[in-house]
Amino acid sequence: GTAHLVVDPDFRIGAVDPRLFGTFVEHMGRCVYTGIHEPDHPTADRHGFRGDVAGLVRELGPTVVRYPGGNFVSGYRWEDGVGPVADRPRRLDLAWRSIEPNTVGVNEFLGWARGLDLEPMMAVNLGTRGIDAARDLVEYCNHPGGTALSDLRIAHGVKEPHGVRLWCLGNELDGPWQIGHKTADEYGRLALETAKAMRQVDPSIELVACGSSNSRMPTFGCWEATVLGHTFDEVDYISLHAYYEEVGGDRASFLASAADMDAFIDAVVATADHVAARRRSRRRLRLSFDEWNVWYYSRFPGERHLEWAHAPRLIEDTYSVTDAVVVGSLLISLLRHADRVGVACQAQLVNVIAPIRTEPGGAAWRQTTFYPFAQAARHARGTALRTEVRGPRLETAKYGGVTAVDAVTTHDEDTGELTLLAVNRDQNAPRRLEAALRGFPAAYRVVEHTVLADPDPDAVNTADHPDRVVPRRVTGAGITGATLHAELPALSWNVLRLA
Ligand code: AHR
Repeated sequence: GTAHLVVDPDFRIGAVDPRLFGTFVEHMGRCVYTGIHEPDHPTADRHGFRGDVAGLVRELGPTVVRYPGGNFVSGYRWEDGVGPVADRPRRLDLAWRSIEPNTVGVNEFLGWARGLDLEPMMAVNLGTRGIDAARDLVEYCNHPGGTALSDLRIAHGVKEPHGVRLWCLGNELDGPWQIGHKTADEYGRLALETAKAMRQVDPSIELVACGSSNSRMPTFGCWEATVLGHTFDEVDYISLHAYYEEVGGDRASFLASAADMDAFIDAVVATADHVAARRRSRRRLRLSFDEWNVWYYSRFPGERHLEWAHAPRLIEDTYSVTDAVVVGSLLISLLRHADRVGVACQAQLVNVIAPIRTEPGGAAWRQTTFYPFAQAARHARGTALRTEVRGPRLETAKYGGVTAVDAVTTHDEDTGELTLLAVNRDQNAPRRLEAALRGFPAAYRVVEHTVLADPDPDAVNTADHPDRVVPRRVTGAGITGATLHAELPALSWNVLRLA
């Protein structure tokens, strides 16, 4: 069967916010230490950051980077990570049972991010701490000078303010595992008062309230309604987190994970709009999907009961071709909600459930999931267009019937370029795609069609075989009349660029 869709510039979803292609660096496992930062590595710069990793981050092309957690932030004292490195304390990080030497802190991290043109998204600790620590951190980072904390930053060698605009009001405070776990009312009140104080320090900042840790939480829905009941007027975003994995060999459902992401986003939009209705507000709150990815919980059962260690190997998931197709489909889901999702961060950047892997003192390489992210971040710009797919369907145990092909198109109005991102979730059959191009002033041609697929759906990239799985340019796609046609191999991620 053929998958049919219509691409029309009038079917606008919304402008794609570049912040949709964010990433996440947590002080967890080897994301920071021996991930982005390793002073003894042969490629390290004078600040101790790995040059090989920096190169891959540039190629990956994220726009935003969330930091420093994650569960880590709920026990973090940011003051431990500033000033002379030799004087910084070694602490127990309770979230990941790790020893935190604080070699990397706010200034090192923000300097690294600036060097790579990444916009920082800082999280404050609303687990063990509150208003004071949060407003102090904003003052330390963003106030120009002439106050105790801004002058302290200057004394620490950072003359210009960091100008951090985007801030998370804590992390996953609905989760019983979180240090300082709270009820929705407790969190909502604290988030509101913290938001007000932080904004009094710097009115230009944007704030993200914590939504649920995932949509299976027993408090999901109520948590968002209560938290936004308190914070609606003071925040710019509500957060969502979701991780997907194949369970019990049910690959068909795993491949349809975007159906869950779509429903999750729609539910949070409905809840935010319900709060708006109660307040007679026309404001449409935006969403920050600030943790999303494939994560095989089942492969790493005992992570929370480890021996104390510095930079242990935590959840260093190795991703397959199948995982890359799922990551691609999750990117399609995010783009399909470009009207409401304004920020999204794939979790995490290096080693910890990450597109980039490293060995201490050794190589850095791209996982299979690196490619869909890099291609979408580079090409899916402009306006997201609604592309409803009509065609063959697949039955899944978890989500019922879904289309075999899922797709979204972006239209860059400046260059005229169209990018069609598509997955074929059928594990057994290639699918023909036919897209009617309607309402465009000029004719298009196919610039390139790249495919990530493999005869072995479990194929992975490793340190020894880093290029086992890469996207390949294929021929055959074309435009006849005003219809784009292409062949999407079984279980594949596809990028079709038209100009
Ligand atoms: O990204 C890994 C962890 O997943 C984060 O620390 C936490 O916020 C989430 O549960």
